[in-house]
Amino acid sequence: MIEKKLHGHINKSDILKWLKEQDTHELERLYDVSELVRAGNVGNSVHLRGLVEISNHCIYQCKYCGIRSANRKISRYRMNEDEILKTVSKIEDAGLGTVVFQSGEDPGLKTDFIARIVSWIKTNTDLAVALSLGERTQDDIAAWRSAGADRYLLKFETSDTDLYHDIHLSSPGSGWDRFEMLKYMKDLGYEIGSGIMIGIPGQVYDSIADDLILFREFDLDMIAVGPYIPHPDTPLGNRKRSRGIPVDEQVPNTEQMTKKVLALSRIMCAQANIPSTSALSAVSGSFRGVGLSCGANVVMPNFTPLEYRLKYDIYPGKSSHIEAVYDDLKKILKEIRLFGREVGRGPGGRIRE
Ligand code: 5AD
Repeated sequence: MIEKKLHGHINKSDILKWLKEQDTHELERLYDVSELVRAGNVGNSVHLRGLVEISNHCIYQCKYCGIRSANRKISRYRMNEDEILKTVSKIEDAGLGTVVFQSGEDPGLKTDFIARIVSWIKTNTDLAVALSLGERTQDDIAAWRSAGADRYLLKFETSDTDLYHDIHLSSPGSGWDRFEMLKYMKDLGYEIGSGIMIGIPGQVYDSIADDLILFREFDLDMIAVGPYIPHPDTPLGNRKRSRGIPVDEQVPNTEQMTKKVLALSRIMCAQANIPSTSALSAVSGSFRGVGLSCGANVVMPNFTPLEYRLKYDIYPGKSSHIEAVYDDLKKILKEIRLFGREVGRGPGGRIRE
């Protein structure tokens, strides 16, 4: 029985079969199994994480990303301490249990600045703090853990090394790779999160299968999966040809393909916290809870102040709808009810049994 096999020891050839599956009935079964695994392991609660995009400065040149340093079309911002803490209060007032700080690769976000903010939040609120501030030094990551940060998110984007180097110009970073960083964070006691983009030009099914196996090997606490969305002001967004792979090996950057990977992530990493990402909603008509039908148990309402939100332009359509700060949350709450799910209370960290 496929259900049994899906629950148990799914191997690379099973994964590849599912990644290439086109039959919608079969896929519905895959999603249903992922939902059973989700309900049985992390329950019916949908945990909300208040997202604050604290800076769009970036010194990197990732070829797919709209906030890459060479993009002169966007104006840059870095929120100050007061603005950040006011936004954190809004997240707390809205009853959420976690705040997530996200930024470009911004050395202007000084170690002490972040440490002070984290420490203030941990002293004065019950919020869990998740950081997604890119590749930082061991000292920074350790300092923020000491200040009380609970979680760190660092996507590895793809485990195909050639593809990785094709889309990331050599980074001015500290010379260690993202897998080493994740191990280091885990050893420090962070809950660790990672993830990939789906449908990068040149990305083949086989490498997505490897990515999924890595999720399981790393025993990730959080897994974020979103479709690659071409950005017109980036080299990759303008590239006409990909790396000469056969057309039928290229992974599509579609809603369905992303849902397959979400479902498999849930089945393979039953206890992980898995968000329905905003990139996935961008390719599915801005429906925020789309991943809730295939294994996701987290949604991240955006609390970035409106004046900054449109400038955090990593891919088109990310913030196309100008909404009041609470509207994203309202929309999400409505969708959670529609799915017959309940809103999670408290920090909603990784469950381990
Ligand atoms: N399409 C989809 N996701 C993107 N990201 C950056 N650019 C894009 C894009 N064009 C995601 C990557 C990155 C995070 C900051 O945003 O996963 O890690």
